[in-house]
Amino acid sequence: VTMNEVTTIPVAGARPYQVVIGHDLRDALARLVTTADRVAVIYATPLQRYADRVADVIRDGGAAPYPIEVPDAEDAKTAEVATRCWDALAAAGFTRTDLVVAVGGGAATDLAGFVAATWLRGVPWVAMPTSLLGMVDAAVGGKTGINVAAGKNLVGSFHPPAGVLADLDTLDPLPHTELVAGLAEVVKCGFIADPEILTRIETDPVAATDPAGPVLRELVERAVRVKARVVSEDLREAGPREILNYGHTLAHAIEQVEGYRWRHGHAVAVGLVYAAHLARLAGRLDEATAVRHTSVLRTLGLPTGYRPEAWPDLLAAMRMDKKVRGSALRFVVLDGLAQPSILHSPPEQLLSRAYREVSE
Ligand SMILES: NC(=O)c1ccc[n+]([C@@H]2O[C@H](COP(=O)([O-])OP(=O)(O)OC[C@H]3O[C@@H](n4cnc5c(N)ncnc54)[C@H](O)[C@@H]3O)[C@@H](O)[C@H]2O)c1
Repeated sequence: VTMNEVTTIPVAGARPYQVVIGHDLRDALARLVTTADRVAVIYATPLQRYADRVADVIRDGGAAPYPIEVPDAEDAKTAEVATRCWDALAAAGFTRTDLVVAVGGGAATDLAGFVAATWLRGVPWVAMPTSLLGMVDAAVGGKTGINVAAGKNLVGSFHPPAGVLADLDTLDPLPHTELVAGLAEVVKCGFIADPEILTRIETDPVAATDPAGPVLRELVERAVRVKARVVSEDLREAGPREILNYGHTLAHAIEQVEGYRWRHGHAVAVGLVYAAHLARLAGRLDEATAVRHTSVLRTLGLPTGYRPEAWPDLLAAMRMDKKVRGSALRFVVLDGLAQPSILHSPPEQLLSRAYREVSE
């Protein structure tokens, strides 16, 4: 593909939509806003300038933009901020044929999608993810939500967007650590479904973090294809979608123990190495593939280990995870490269032996 070509990846479901990936997606945006009279642009503070340009496209298309600035990162995902957004939609006289556009990282798209899901029991929305994690994960799949005191993402709704526009130009000002953290989810997609992702990163890890270059673009496209394929088969997370949780059981526990001060992608990186060794020690995954987890993540500068003394807290947190069905622990593991399966109720001794692999 050349710089100004766009790539379109379909997501199936009751209301199918497309993920559009490319540089400068103003034309694609203009096409999505044609049916609305009013368009709310919900954006995270650091994305002000980009949100202004989005508003210009909306105005040029003949609709009225209503910019709504929300606090940065997780501070956006609160009931209080959602209430402010609903009040703003009410003040603008928003109807069911109007549109919400979300501009920002995964936190902003989760909040804006939730506001769109709940206003008048659901108005259409378009996600414009501006972080790598948002592009390959948060904005694709239709899960929206906010946090409450009891935990992250406990209130939410499945509300697929009318479209996802991943404008690679927005990645230029994204802090390097955020970009690299997002790559952990890309690596996950490589191990569960598309090993070519791993080869690309191993061949040229520096190019993999260059937002202007073709390698990162290809990685975004490949990771989105993996997620799009899986969620197309399983819109509401009843079955195959569980494989996207690879590495996330320990990752969620680390995030909780860290009080959510760790980047999600960093926790996922450690969780991937853990899941790989769990599968190896259970006799399901070959040693070379397990070790490859550590090497590819390290190449990118992602963490692959965690504190030994944290194990009891991590185990307790994993047993509390909302994705645990009943009380038995379930892990997504690999039986081989790109062969995800489930490990049911592994014995505690196996769990702690695998933890030694990420803590010594
Ligand atoms: N809905 C889902 O399926 C799903 C999946 C994965 C994650 N999530 C959610 O996504 C969130 C994490 O997403 P995230 O990692 O994007 O975090 P984030 O939204 O907090 O963004 C990280 C930081 O980068 C900044 N940023 C984003 N784009 C930028 C840009 N182009 N230039 C400069 N700064 C920019 C943000 O403002 C923020 O400070 C979490 O709340 C998580 O629960 C949701």
